[in-house]
This record gives sequence, structure tokens and C-alpha cells, in this order.
Amino acid sequence: MLARALRALMVWLTSLPFARRVITESPIGRGVARRFVAGDTLDDAVKVAGDLNDRGLGAMLDLLGENVTNEEQAERAAAGYAAALRRIEATGLADANISIKLTQLGLDISEELCLTNCERVLRAANGTLVMIDMESSDYTERTIAMYEKLRAGHDNIGICLQAALHRTPTDVRRIAGPGVPIRLAKGAYLEPPDIAIAHPREVARAFARLGATILALGATLHVATHDPGLIAGARRNVLARGIPRERYEFQMLYGIRRDLQESLRSQGSPVRVYIPYGSEWYPYLTRRLVERPANVWFFLSNLFRR
Ligand code: FDA
Repeated sequence: MLARALRALMVWLTSLPFARRVITESPIGRGVARRFVAGDTLDDAVKVAGDLNDRGLGAMLDLLGENVTNEEQAERAAAGYAAALRRIEATGLADANISIKLTQLGLDISEELCLTNCERVLRAANGTLVMIDMESSDYTERTIAMYEKLRAGHDNIGICLQAALHRTPTDVRRIAGPGVPIRLAKGAYLEPPDIAIAHPREVARAFARLGATILALGATLHVATHDPGLIAGARRNVLARGIPRERYEFQMLYGIRRDLQESLRSQGSPVRVYIPYGSEWYPYLTRRLVERPANVWFFLSNLFRR
């Protein structure tokens, strides 16, 4: 209860224009962001992806940005993703794909614009996997509907589902099937109790159940969490059931639990790191700060040390 109230307070505080200005314009804010974001440019992201590939880890590039308010911004984001896909191919990265956000490609403006931009990204993909991030619950139904339209014409597209949402078991049955890539994450947005499970332990239980169902329905499971208990459980499950490596992977965020990424890889599990890059890092950073109070203290102590 208290944790939720604190999180709500943090979400409100970080939404204030003043907080945004202080964090984005201060060297400390930018310094903290660098822990979670590869850099401002595609070059920065490709460099990180190459280093990860050299260490036997996969990469997933995420051009930061969301909730764009005009067509030009949405088209610029599509062009940015197309450029990332072309660069993945031209650089010959051993194992890299991308993840997109629909509100960055114009979903708030119109579904047609978003669809056109997604098609443009998929044309540039040339078979490389394009994953769709899941945003707050205001967008869940529209995101899944857009995914279904795109999936009808492209095999190389997948989607993230959030274990915390009450609707997700139904969505899993709606989407999961052989060859469908599903990223399962706990859910990064603060949602009301009628929409999402509130208690962290219950979210973890839902995650474990949903992961097992996704595999049982023949889909490809991307286990997107840093939670050691869930990772160990998923690993036990895939090994016990003899699920081939092509049907699952573990995914973590750039800058978080690098030790766990390495230890999983050294045990022979496929691991991929999600690499955010670009100048629009503020909303992403606030999600990372808010989901873990220790990050807020880390940020504040840096601020006061100055
Ligand atoms: P939990 O929060 O319980 O953390 C477990 C441990 O991980 C912590 O004890 C800590 O060690 C470490 N940790 C977790 N978060 C940290 C942080 N911010 N800073 C430092 N350490 C941290 N969500 C969403 O709504 N839509 C999406 O599309 C995606 N996509 C996505 C892709 C990938 C690859 C990952 C790993 C995650 C997402 N998420 C997401 C985010 C996800 O929903 C969730 O918010 C975070 O992963 C944090 O939850 P954990 O499952 O890691 O567990």
C-alpha cells in the first residue's frame, strides 16, 4: 500500500515540467540516464550491440520516444527505426533486432498513420524481428489490434504482454501460437487495481503461470525480467520440458543486472539485452527510477553530493 502510494507520488513528481527540466538539463540527470541509456545516437547503440554480441549476448535496439503529437515526428521515428534496421544489416551484427512503440509511430494521432509507419519499418526489416513494446493500459487493446493487423502480413513481428494486467491470460490465448514471439514483462506502468494486480508477489505468480501457458501454446517466449526467482523457474521449466533454444530467451534491460546476464549466458541460456538510445530518454528514465526506490535515492544522493 505504502509502496504504491510512494510510486504514485514519484510518478506525479516526475511528470512536473519543473522536474523534467531539472533532470534533463542537469549533468547529474544526464549522468544517471547514461546508466540506463546507451547514448544519444544510433552509433552509440550499435557499438553497445556489437560489444554484447562479442560477449555472446543478443541485442535489441530501442529508439527512445513516445506519445508523439504530429505526423512529422511519427514519420521521423519510422525513419529512425528503418535506419537502425539497415545499419544492423550493413554492420553485420551477429544477433540484433529492434523494438518499437506504437505511440511513437503515431497511434495517438491516427491508426492509419501508425499502421503506415509500422509497415514502413517492417519493409526495412528484411526479416529481422520487430517487437512491439506494450505501453500503459490506455493502449493495450489498440496495440494488440495493430499487432494482429501487422502479423497477418508479416512473420517477423512480435509483441510484449504485461503479466500484471488482469486481461493478459485472455490476451495470451488470443495471440499465442506456433512461431509467435511473445515478450512477457511484469509491466512498467502504475495501473489502477481494477486493471492490474497490485501485489508484487501476485504479479510474479501470474508471470510464472503465463510463461508456462505461452510455451504450452507453442509460442516463442521472451522472459523479460531481472527477477532471479522467475528466471530460475522459467529456466527449470524449459529444461525439464526439453524446449529448444529457438523457442525461448531471457531478456534484460541495458544497465541492469549485468552479472545475471553473464551468469545465464555462461550456463548456456540465450540472453538478449534491450538497448535504449536517443535523446528522448526522460520518460524511460523515470520508469526505471520509479520502479525501484533505490534508484531515486541514488539520483538524490548524487544531486546533494554536488
Ligand atoms: P523487479 O522489479 O522485481 O526487479 C527484480 C530485480 O531486478 C530487482 O531486485 C533489481 O535487482 C533489478 N531491477 C529491476 N528494475 C530495476 C531498475 N529499474 N533499476 C535497477 N535495478 C532494477 N514493461 C512494459 O510495460 N512494457 C514493455 O514493453 C516492456 N519491455 C521490457 C523489455 C525488457 C527486455 C525488460 C527486461 C523489461 C521490459 N519492461 C516492459 C519492464 C518490466 O515491465 C518491468 O517494469 C521491469 O523489468 C522491472 O521488473 P522486473 O521484472 O525486473 O522485476
